[in-house]
Amino acid sequence: MAKYKIAWMPGDGVGHDVMEAARLVLDSMHFDAEYIHADIGWEFWCHEGDPLPQRTIDLLRKTDCALFGAITSKPNEEAAQELAPELRTRELVYFSPIVKLRQLFNLHTNLRPCKAYPGNPLNLRDDIDLVVFRENTEGMYGGVEFHPIPRAVFDALCANPKMKRFESKGLDNLALSTRIMSRQGCESIVRGAFEYAKTHRRRSVTLVEKPNVLRETGGLMTRVARQVAADYPDIPLWEANIDAMCMWLVKKPHEYDILVAENMFGDIISDLAAGLVGGLGFASAANIGDDYAVFEPTHGSAPKYAGQHKVNPMAMLLTVKLMFDWLGEAEHAQRLEDGIAVVIREGKVGTYDVGMSNSTLEVAEEVARQVGAATAANA
Ligand code: IPM
Ligand code: MG
Repeated sequence: MAKYKIAWMPGDGVGHDVMEAARLVLDSMHFDAEYIHADIGWEFWCHEGDPLPQRTIDLLRKTDCALFGAITSKPNEEAAQELAPELRTRELVYFSPIVKLRQLFNLHTNLRPCKAYPGNPLNLRDDIDLVVFRENTEGMYGGVEFHPIPRAVFDALCANPKMKRFESKGLDNLALSTRIMSRQGCESIVRGAFEYAKTHRRRSVTLVEKPNVLRETGGLMTRVARQVAADYPDIPLWEANIDAMCMWLVKKPHEYDILVAENMFGDIISDLAAGLVGGLGFASAANIGDDYAVFEPTHGSAPKYAGQHKVNPMAMLLTVKLMFDWLGEAEHAQRLEDGIAVVIREGKVGTYDVGMSNSTLEVAEEVARQVGAATAANA
């Protein structure tokens, strides 16, 4: 029996291309795992009315973790139009399966390293090494939304007098998305960031929030962060507003280290951080819970490139590295990261985004050659 059972979820679009690349590299390392295909994505929305079928949830529960390619998400109206005709009368509403997975499996931490590997022509500078800790189950992504706003909800919200002035617009004309944050959620993500900083000997943790405007949610997060920081006297907590942080990360990215943020701010800041070190083609991510994790590159499904083997596999390969880390396979993780770093530094192969013309699989093969050689040398 293989050492690990890993759910294999290519999802949509280029998810298939990059997962093929991942498999090539995993096999070159003789990683002892069984990969079990799981259905997820747009196709299952269109034909079954559910982008995350129950059978997939059941399957995931029987595995150690999951590797995921990419997902296509579309706004409500477009999603409804693409449903199979026989499903259209059922009033189904599309939801993002990855957001649902994060909540269902309580994958509270989204870990997103953004590191400049020397030789990458797209690096803003070569000394950037950021790690974003994004709260992954609450905040603006909590999914508590209304349109129109039901009367009972409106009346309850009127406990805050600022709500009153919206009544004249008409409840049908109002849409509401909430930002619900718990003390537990704030504490867990901030502590995760500090623990990581401690074990990885990092210099600082920066809380990215907006407590001067989002006084209650931002305020709670800030208070909790200060309390948690007191347990780590050697690691300074810096506080920055999300808007200012977007500027500072472009101007002085090398001065920052670990960033911690609420779900949506983390979503935004992690794309920005990725842009400093080559873009989404290099951005890996790990959705981590207490006993399960789903690993996915930050990039989307890029439908126009689907099946063309054009996109950069590095984000996916760095994601596999995060999976090795989480599984406790430190040697594999190091070997893979070293191999990736060599391929980037040598710059002999690269996909279109780095100004070259190799395919997804050619780049993956070059990484596989590097790690394969290292694997053979160690055998
Ligand atoms: C990400 C993506 C997702 C998100 C989308 C695909 C729902 O942008 O993982 O950052 O917003 O979380
Ligand atoms: Mg995003």
